[in-house]
Amino acid sequence: MGSSYPLDFPPKVSIVHVRTKHKRMVSVVPTVVLYVSSVPLNSARHRTNLDLFIVTYPKCGTTWTQHITYLILHDGVPLAPDQRMDVVWPHLEEVGNDFVRENATTNGYRLIKTHFSYNLTPKNPNAKYIYVTRNPKDCVVSFYHHTVGFPRHYDFAEGSFDTYFNLFLEGKVDSNDYFHFLREWLDHKDDTNVLFLRYETGRNDIRQYILQIAEFLGEEYPKRLLQDDERILKLVMEHSSLHSMQQNPRRWCSDRTGFTPFIRKGSIGGWKELLSEDQAKLLQQRLNQMFTQNELDFLGEHYH
Ligand code: A3P
Repeated sequence: MGSSYPLDFPPKVSIVHVRTKHKRMVSVVPTVVLYVSSVPLNSARHRTNLDLFIVTYPKCGTTWTQHITYLILHDGVPLAPDQRMDVVWPHLEEVGNDFVRENATTNGYRLIKTHFSYNLTPKNPNAKYIYVTRNPKDCVVSFYHHTVGFPRHYDFAEGSFDTYFNLFLEGKVDSNDYFHFLREWLDHKDDTNVLFLRYETGRNDIRQYILQIAEFLGEEYPKRLLQDDERILKLVMEHSSLHSMQQNPRRWCSDRTGFTPFIRKGSIGGWKELLSEDQAKLLQQRLNQMFTQNELDFLGEHYH
C-alpha cells in the first residue's frame, strides 16, 4: 500500500460521527457526510504504536476476527464481560479520528475497525490491514438479520428478506455494493501490509486462521501461541469459539433483546434456508461478472 494518510486519504474528507438523532434508513453510507481532517491518524504522540486496521464489508466475520486478534495480543485473555469491543477497537466511521487517536491503543498496536471501501480507508505503509471476506450469499442473510435487529439504527424492523435482498443487490445498504467492495480489496490481497482472510477458511480450520493472524502481527506472536504445549493458542481457540462469544453479547453490540442475537449461527451455507434459487443465481451472476475464474477459485467453493 502506498503513501501515508494525508496523501491517500480523500482530500478535504475525513470521518463524521454518524450517530445522529435521526434513525438511519437501511443505507447509511449516503448519509455519512465527511468532515475535513487536517491531522493524520498517526500523530507523533503515538509514533511507537502501529495502526492495525480490520477492514470488512459488514457481516463477513469482523467481530470474530477482532476478538481473535485481541486474544493473540493479550495472551489468550478474553474481553471482560463488561468491556466493549468498540471501545478497545473503535469503529472509525462511527466515532471519528479524535476518538481513535486518543483511545485505541493496546500492546503496541492502535486498533481501528472500518467498513470503508478501499479508496476511503486511510492508508499508510506502516499500518497493517486485516481484510476478511465472506461469500455474499451468507453475507446477505446475516446482514438482513443484523438490520432487522437494530430498530434504533435502521427503519427496517418490519422489512422482508426479499426487500432487503434487492437493496443488497443494488448496493443500497451500509457500505454500498458488496461486489465492488470486494473487487477493490481483492486487487490488494498481495500487498505486504495486507492480510487477506476468508471467513469460510477460518470456520474450517480455526487453528490455521489464528496462526496466520499471529504471524501477520509479528514473529513473536506465533512463538508465544505455540510454546508450553500451545497453551495460549488453545485459549485463543476456546475464547473465540462461537459458543464462547455468544456469552455476554453486550461486549460486541448494543442491546438486541427480542431479536436474533448478533452472534447468530456462524454457519457456512446457511443461506440455503432463506434464499430462493433465483436469488442465489442473481448473486452468482454478479460474482461471475466481477471476478475471474481464478479469483473465484482463490475465494473458495462458496463463491461458485
Ligand atoms: P451470522 O449472522 O451468519 O451468524 P460481523 O462481525 O462482520 O458483523 O459478522 C457477523 C457474523 O459473524 C455473524 O454471522 C456471526 O454469527 C459471525 N460470528 C461472530 N462470532 C463468531 C464466531 N466466534 N465464530 C463464528 N462466527 C462468528
